[in-house]
Amino acid sequence: MNVLVLGSGGREHAIAWKIAQSSLLSKLFIAPGNPGTASLGQNLNLSPVDFPSVKRAVLEHQIQLVVVGPEQPLVDGIVDFFRADAELAHVKIIGPSKHAAQLEGSKDFAKAFMRRHRIPTAKYATFDHTQITEGQAFLETMQPPFVLKADGLAAGKGVIILDDLQEAKEQLATLLNGQFGAASRRVVIEEFLRGIEVSVFAITDGKSYKLLPSAKDYKRIGEGDQGLNTGGMGAVSPVPFVDDALMDRIEKEIVVPTVQGIREESMDYVGFIFFGLMISDGHPFVIEYNCRMGDPETEVVIPRLKSDLLSLLEGAALGEISEQDVQVDARCAATVMLVSGGYPGDYTTGKKIHLPQEVTDSIIFHAGTKLQDEAFVTAGGRVLAITSLAIGLNNALEKSYREIGNINFDGMVYRRDIGKDVLGELA
Ligand code: AMP
Ligand code: GLY
Repeated sequence: MNVLVLGSGGREHAIAWKIAQSSLLSKLFIAPGNPGTASLGQNLNLSPVDFPSVKRAVLEHQIQLVVVGPEQPLVDGIVDFFRADAELAHVKIIGPSKHAAQLEGSKDFAKAFMRRHRIPTAKYATFDHTQITEGQAFLETMQPPFVLKADGLAAGKGVIILDDLQEAKEQLATLLNGQFGAASRRVVIEEFLRGIEVSVFAITDGKSYKLLPSAKDYKRIGEGDQGLNTGGMGAVSPVPFVDDALMDRIEKEIVVPTVQGIREESMDYVGFIFFGLMISDGHPFVIEYNCRMGDPETEVVIPRLKSDLLSLLEGAALGEISEQDVQVDARCAATVMLVSGGYPGDYTTGKKIHLPQEVTDSIIFHAGTKLQDEAFVTAGGRVLAITSLAIGLNNALEKSYREIGNINFDGMVYRRDIGKDVLGELA
């Protein structure tokens, strides 16, 4: 089978790395990919949101299965584009339809879905740009901190949490007046949930599902979870505090009713469901759905998958996910992101990256790199994800940090405390 992976980050490198190991694979393409994926298959210079170009590449390279890495093409309707085109009818595409992708693309859609299917989530109300006064009055009935969420995709910046009522009211008006354009012309105001966050992943065919390993990511730039939000500074899998009893509850109270809701509403949903959860006083709540894998969670989840990912994805596309078997490596995985100095604010790129000469037992996933005069240089905020597997999370972390000792680029920044919080609970 010829396969195309759409996207260019560490997530897509990890997905491509796993698919490259499949006995079902004939030829692998990645669009646009990065220098890391170039060693696994052929990078194609096209944008995943340029559907006609994706179509041309699929036909030219006789691609039979497309994996959509990032959310934007899904929310834009790439799956519908494939379904509506007779020349692409034979191609399997991994991702939900535009309608189903609203589970990620519209916070209000997701909240209403959870309400319909009695899936535990924070209490909320939604207001549009004609309802600023009503929204502000609603804020007065809430306890701080106040959680304001732009309805649409806002590049990870759409969730704003404020302690002060007056500030929250002003922020609501700013959002509704178009701070993030159309994405914030509607705003979800919700109850603040205290607790620990964990990410759970499933592959679905729209009727049934298989769980993948759980993970925890570290979003803030600074150690001790201080400072600005980033795309993700590292991740660990499994999450020590998610024991079998909690996982059973998550499955019963959240995963099963979600997939049942998708089925009952006849959503066209083939692919990954990412459950962003808050465990609050021992009870799991959905903070958000994403309709794709997480980044950098993928860089720990996928290396722990022993089963053939391509077989799982093909099974999902054929509506036969229940016949698939998911085997997970008992070892723990840790990934640490190396980022450009200044990120998530302004940073400069083009810094030469020094990588270890000898082969090591960590996996180096490229996120924001470029090949220039036969050398790797930085090309983004998040540059490399260093993943290691070992018995015991502390050993996996130690391996990744040891590997980082052999890597360098000008201005390189990383968090030294990935996994530390959950390790405390292991002891
Ligand atoms: P989201 O983009 O929905 O994942 O939200 C970004 C981050 O905001 C989450 O990872 C949480 O840390 C935080 N967050 C979102 N909603 C809530 C909530 N209701 N209570 C507490 N924290 C929240
Ligand atoms: N790491 C969080 C995300 O991918 O949305």
